Amino acid sequence: MAHFPALVGLGSYLPPRRVTNEELATAFDTSDEWITTRTGIRSRHWASPGMATSDLAIEAGHRALKSANLPPGPGAVDAVVLATTTPDHPCPATAPQVASRLGLGATAAYDIAAVCSGFVYALATASAQITAGQARRVLVIGAETYSTILNPADRTTSVIFGDGAGAVVLSAVPDADAPGVVLGVDLGSDGSRQDLITIPGGGSRERASTAEHDPNGRYFTMQGKKVFAEAVTRMGDSAAALLDRIGWPVESVDHLVGHQANVRILKALAQRLGLPQERAVVNIDRVGNTSAASIPVALADAATAGTLATGSRLLLTAFGGGLTWGSAALTWPGLTAA
Ligand code: UT7
Repeated sequence: MAHFPALVGLGSYLPPRRVTNEELATAFDTSDEWITTRTGIRSRHWASPGMATSDLAIEAGHRALKSANLPPGPGAVDAVVLATTTPDHPCPATAPQVASRLGLGATAAYDIAAVCSGFVYALATASAQITAGQARRVLVIGAETYSTILNPADRTTSVIFGDGAGAVVLSAVPDADAPGVVLGVDLGSDGSRQDLITIPGGGSRERASTAEHDPNGRYFTMQGKKVFAEAVTRMGDSAAALLDRIGWPVESVDHLVGHQANVRILKALAQRLGLPQERAVVNIDRVGNTSAASIPVALADAATAGTLATGSRLLLTAFGGGLTWGSAALTWPGLTAA
């Protein structure tokens, strides 16, 4: 019997500490006016010292399981897939710890590293596991603590990124038309442009232990203007290709859930696709760019705000370092986000 991956649970978590533009303007040569106008961000949340990515991932995972009415316990899910750019440690992956601390038993657990596209990559991988019959239920989490990798001397990246986590539960259903079924995905990459978004040091190319190692190499870097242009083109083309493949006319998309990188990118993306801007889900004003957590956090916020009608068509699309990009299409199952 065929199995289709359906969204049955959704949760999100932001660390308590809210950081406003005004607060950042006391630490950096910046202003609320610049940040709001250039990015649409008014505040973001940053993890307090001692709070790691797994801590946020566990909260979001717990909430997604609750939203799915699944008590955490061995056998609740067959896999935990965690998308992150900021794992607790370079080794091992963070997902096994998240699975263990959630009490999920000896489930498969692995990380996905696709920077801001990570959640869509993780969703695609989890969907494929269900379609292949390798898993019945998968917990998919995007979680980040970018505040731990931002260069305090770089005002541009320091005002953009926020910390947070979002999670979904995918479950196998027999009906391809059931609400919540992931109907298709599109993934892509261009490694020749890896320099546009990178943490240069600490890996096997520039080892942390070498004398010539630049201590600034452990920080996140981004060439903003070039990334902006790539983001609009890559997300637009990926989303359009996916719509074409699954036979959804662009005007039939009810909600564009794009990676929350910059409100100007979301507007340009809607325009490139030919969608009214009101169809773009926007929560970047309150959370900033939360990288791999961005899409599930935006989805949870929209669900909580009551703006998603059951059966409405959702187009998810993301872009990030790698370069990587990806899109996914599904209908809204009408569940309550936790
Ligand atoms: O999540 C992965 C994907 N990421 C993205 O998609 C991010 C894409 N890029 C962007 O969102 C935008 O390029 C940024 C928000 C990063 C930058 O906005 P921009 O409109 O491209 O600004 P810019 O880099 O061209 O800088 C304009 C000016 C510069 O000053 P001059 O050279 O014109 O005098 C910057 O030095 O703004 C200055 N600037 C700032 N000023 C005040 C840069 N950062 C700041 C700041 N506060 N925080």
